[in-house]
Parts: sequence; structure tokens; C-alpha cells
Amino acid sequence: MQKNATCPARDDPQPLYSAMLRDSGHDAREWLAAQLRRTASLPDDLPDDFAQLEAWARAHAAQVSAEHAGYLEQRRQGAPRRFFANRSQALWFLQQVAPTKAVDGAWLHGTLRHWRDPRFHGLVRTFLEELGDGDPRCNHVLIFQRLLSRLGCDQGLPLHPQRYLQGAVQLALGRHVEHFLAEVIGYNLGYEQPPLHLLITTHELAELGIDAHYFQLHVTIDNAASGHARRALHSLRLLMPETSAATFHARVRRGYRLNDLGLDTAKLIASFNLEDELLAALQRKRVYGQFMHSDRCRLQGRTINQWLADADSMPGFLRALEKQQWVHHGQDPLRSRFWALIDGPHAAMFGVFSAYEKQLWRDWIAADWAGEKYRRVTPGQWEQALALEDHAPRTQGAACIERMIEAMAGNRHAEPDGLRATRDFIRATGLAGGGQY
Ligand SMILES: [Fe+2]
Ligand SMILES: [Fe+2]
Repeated sequence: MQKNATCPARDDPQPLYSAMLRDSGHDAREWLAAQLRRTASLPDDLPDDFAQLEAWARAHAAQVSAEHAGYLEQRRQGAPRRFFANRSQALWFLQQVAPTKAVDGAWLHGTLRHWRDPRFHGLVRTFLEELGDGDPRCNHVLIFQRLLSRLGCDQGLPLHPQRYLQGAVQLALGRHVEHFLAEVIGYNLGYEQPPLHLLITTHELAELGIDAHYFQLHVTIDNAASGHARRALHSLRLLMPETSAATFHARVRRGYRLNDLGLDTAKLIASFNLEDELLAALQRKRVYGQFMHSDRCRLQGRTINQWLADADSMPGFLRALEKQQWVHHGQDPLRSRFWALIDGPHAAMFGVFSAYEKQLWRDWIAADWAGEKYRRVTPGQWEQALALEDHAPRTQGAACIERMIEAMAGNRHAEPDGLRATRDFIRATGLAGGGQY
């Protein structure tokens, strides 16, 4: 929730993240302990006296809604979007956070083993809701994956190693609840307080014609009155030991601060640079494209193959496209010859650029041309068209709760077996929410 501090990268969490996703047996406990040590010097906004946590959560919710009202008022008065200058920036952001969203809820997985203990029910319920109670339409990981596929952004853009940090933290916490319960509670407390950036993202994605269902869903499900934020506080109270409360508080605080490792959302979004991203896309393509063009194809005296053969010439290539008027900067992209080469089923370069890369070209050509209009998408609109009823049989050996729990791990619950196991777990334990079972 409190996201102001940034930590320098001290290691590369990506191999660990991938290992945990693959279940390759890496235990990550030492790594997690090291991450917790990193939080020792970070500031946080938790009250000194944990008896004040209710008031703290109320104040946070009130502040977020006041700032949101201010944002909406600014927009009404004509202020531009605060986060996403163009659609490329939004697509870029969705891909940057994909490793975290791919394991949404994972930090709570280990609480399932305490299903017999009513003090854990709030955390278990939160986890089950992250999994959509096993319904593929409501599983948060799947909702995000569908969004990326729909946008043509599911091809695994190369990301900075630090984009894997929060996902690795979440998977590691989920594996070590026995050892780090207080820290899991603290992390959960921070992660489940709806932040301002969630509200702004929801608003601006919809405006750019992108279904913000995933984000809208978290505005409602994590709410502080009765949602995950409320449950996070309640669970903390129930699980607080009567003795050694001070040590417990300190550990909760460190877990809370784990949320602040890495770049915060607003800074991440602001670090986007359209031309740099387009150049990076060209560098990725260059290697494949340098022998693919006919030598009749010339730009400023050099063949396209010559342009593409040189790693340093991509900025010059963009300038050459402008000079030779293959693109008309700051105008409707439809008027640019180059756009016609890459867009449409009959385009000469059909399929060369992904949907995301085409968006980069489009926004780069359009620059500050104000004519681009997107039809607003109501959050959930794309999802309504889905028919994902699952009539598959229940998990074999439904009595074996331990096996169901295994199948519900943060890296696997969104697969058909995991979804089925989630539904079976809910039936077997009676831990249904919302009265739908
Ligand atoms: Fe979620
Ligand atoms: Fe949540």
C-alpha cells in the first residue's frame, strides 16, 4: 500500500521465479529471509500501536477516495490521462506486471494447510477468491491471461529482472507460511489495501478501449469495508500471539514492507519511453529481418537489409523513414505508407509485427496527433462473451485434501487440475464463500 521507497536491484530474481513456477524443487527460504533483511531500513506508514490499525485502514481508504475524486475532477476539467499517454504505454504496463499477475494470491497458498483452524479462515477465503473458487471465469490469474491474449500481448516481452521480484516474493511466501506466518500476514495487509493507482488504471484502460475487468475486480473485492483489506486486518488480530506481541509486530511490519521492494506502479508506468520501446522492438526483429528484404527496397540510399544488418543504425532508420516520407509524423497513421505496409491482412509485411509492436508504430507515427479515438470498454465487457463452464469430472481421490492443496499452488491452480482441485477443496472443507455452494 505504501509504495514510495525503491530498492536497488541486488540480485536477479528471474531464475528463482521461473524455478518456482516450474516447481523445480528450489525452496527459496533463504532467499526470502534475505529479502526480509533488505526491508529493515525501509520506512513504512503502519502505526506504532497496532491497536490503531483499524483507524489507519480507514484513513488510508478515505485518502485514496479523496485523491480519486480529485483525479476525476481534473479529468472532467480536461486534464489529460495521468498514467497512459497512449495505448502503447498501457499495453507495455500490462506486460511489465504480467509475472506478478501470473501468481496472484500465491503468498497465501500455505494457509490452506490450516483449514481446520477457524483463525485462518479469512486468509483461506481470500486465497480461494483469488482462485475464483475454481471457476475459470473468476480465477484472477486466468482473467489476466485472457486479457493479455485478447490484446495480443502474450508473447513474453523480454523484461527487466526486477519485474520478477514481487512474483518471486509471493511464490516464496506461499511456500513458507509455517516459517513466515507473521510476514505473510504483514505482506497480505499491504497487498490487499486498494491503492489509488488501481482506480486510475481502471479508468484509463477503459478509456483506451481495453477491458479493465481485472483491475475493477480488485477495486471491489479488496475493499476496506468488507473485502480482502478487511479480512487482512481481522486475520492479523486473530493470529496475534498473546505473548511476544512486540516480536510478532516487528515481523508483520517487515512482511508489509516487502510490498515496497522493486519499483512502485506509478514510477514504473512513468519510466515508459515510446521511441525506446520501438527501437527495442526493432532490435529484436532486426536479426531476423536483415536477409529478408529485396535489394530493390532502398531507403536514403541504403537497402533495407543494409539498414538492418547494423545494430547501431535503428535510430537512423527511424529518421530515414521520416525523411523519405514513408511516415508522416504527427498525422493520422493511415496516411503513412509504412503503416499500410504492416497493417491489414493484405499488407506486404503482414504478421511481421505483433499487436503490441504495431501499437508502438501507430503511436510513434501519430505522436501528438489528437485524432486517435478509442471506444470506451466497460470493465467486464470482453469477459461477458466467454463461455467457460467446466463439466470435467472432479479430482480423482477427492478425499485426499493434501493432494488438492498441492494442485492449488500459486504456479498451478489456474490449470484445469488446479481449478478442479479448488472446487473439490471447497466442497470437502465447507469453506465456501458467498453461499454459492
Ligand atoms: Fe487478485
Ligand atoms: Fe485480493
